[in-house]
Amino acid sequence: MYWKTWPAAMTSRQARSVASDTKLGERTKDNMMEYIEINGTHLISSRIALGTWAIGGWMWGGTDEKESIRTIHAAFDHGINMIDTAPIYGYGRSEAIVGEALRQHGRRDSMILATKVGIDWTNGKIERNSTRQRILKELEDSLRRLQTDYIDIYQVHWPDPCVPIEENEQGKIRAIGVSNYSPEEMQRFQAIAPLHTIQPPYNLFEREIEGDILPYAFGHGITTMTYGALCRGLLSGAMRADREFADGDMRKITDPKFQPPHFAEYLNAASKLDAFARKNFGKRVIHLAVRWLLDQPGVGVALWGARRPEQLAAITEVSGWSLTKSDCAAIDAILRENIRNPVGPEFMAPPSRQIRRVA
Ligand SMILES: NC(=O)c1ccc[n+]([C@@H]2O[C@H](COP(=O)([O-])OP(=O)(O)OC[C@H]3O[C@@H](n4cnc5c(N)ncnc54)[C@H](OP(=O)(O)O)[C@@H]3O)[C@@H](O)[C@H]2O)c1
Repeated sequence: MYWKTWPAAMTSRQARSVASDTKLGERTKDNMMEYIEINGTHLISSRIALGTWAIGGWMWGGTDEKESIRTIHAAFDHGINMIDTAPIYGYGRSEAIVGEALRQHGRRDSMILATKVGIDWTNGKIERNSTRQRILKELEDSLRRLQTDYIDIYQVHWPDPCVPIEENEQGKIRAIGVSNYSPEEMQRFQAIAPLHTIQPPYNLFEREIEGDILPYAFGHGITTMTYGALCRGLLSGAMRADREFADGDMRKITDPKFQPPHFAEYLNAASKLDAFARKNFGKRVIHLAVRWLLDQPGVGVALWGARRPEQLAAITEVSGWSLTKSDCAAIDAILRENIRNPVGPEFMAPPSRQIRRVA
């Protein structure tokens, strides 16, 4: 009976086939996950995917491998069947942890593995690099770390202005994705290869893609896998003004949303959203934030980052209800009233390589 929570776009025949293909386990009231077909593929993904950037430790103040593996297994228990990772997350550590978690779990064929390519950290310098040589090396490295012989969704992490999009190639992969691409870059990509997914930043506090990327993807049959569902914890309801971030956690110095004057504004907005969620739905801000994402036209999959199993417990309260247009308008009014100095996610963009020009 919980099939009812699946999106209307999915037929009941498709829904049954997900159950038998992916062996997601018995559906109980604790597993009300929604699923979606990745456009142009036979992949059926949970609409909440586990993001494993924090699990890699880099920019998140370190990692705990055993706890990370428990988190990945907890995600599976919640009905999540897609994991997003990248070589740069901990310089291979996140992929290696995901690979080990999958090996222990033993059901590779029922999971959708999404990883990325095109960020180089050779010689300790991080920069975009989507040259053919780099892609071929990264692909083999990713397959080894992930302990698999195929990748379900292979995504170019950031556009590399030094390499014409026309030079990118596909390898041992089932679907092709890009991340942080503009509509123009997606259009150029689509002229030479199928494009199944786009991974942009999107959450209640980071809405920049609404004007161009979201409508482009929606109009061109590209499934969106939006990242930062909880805005790096700001929308979790657990973030506090006196939170002490570990050294190396980007939120300590680098992420502008966590610095004055922005931090207080975003915390205040989260608290107002929490009151709104409680009053109108008997929910909390974390549920509202993810429900809102899943209810936005054009959003396919929301990437939720977690590194402790209990952080995923809130998933059970995300399905089975939805927001109306007037709810969304009320939410927008709360954001407008409380965030006077908005700031975007641009700080995450890695630098491009310097091309040496010969005179
Ligand atoms: N393509 C790209 O360029 C790009 C960029 C960014 C992210 N991504 C992908 O998108 C994924 C999601 O983004 P994100 O990791 O920034 O995710 P997020 O969902 O915005 O934030 C994740 C953080 O929120 C906190 N959190 C999660 N659940 C919580 C809970 N129940 N209670 C309290 N705090 C909670 C945790 O912080 P603590 O660890 O401090 O507890 C967690 O590490 C990434 O993991 C990655 O796979 C891709």
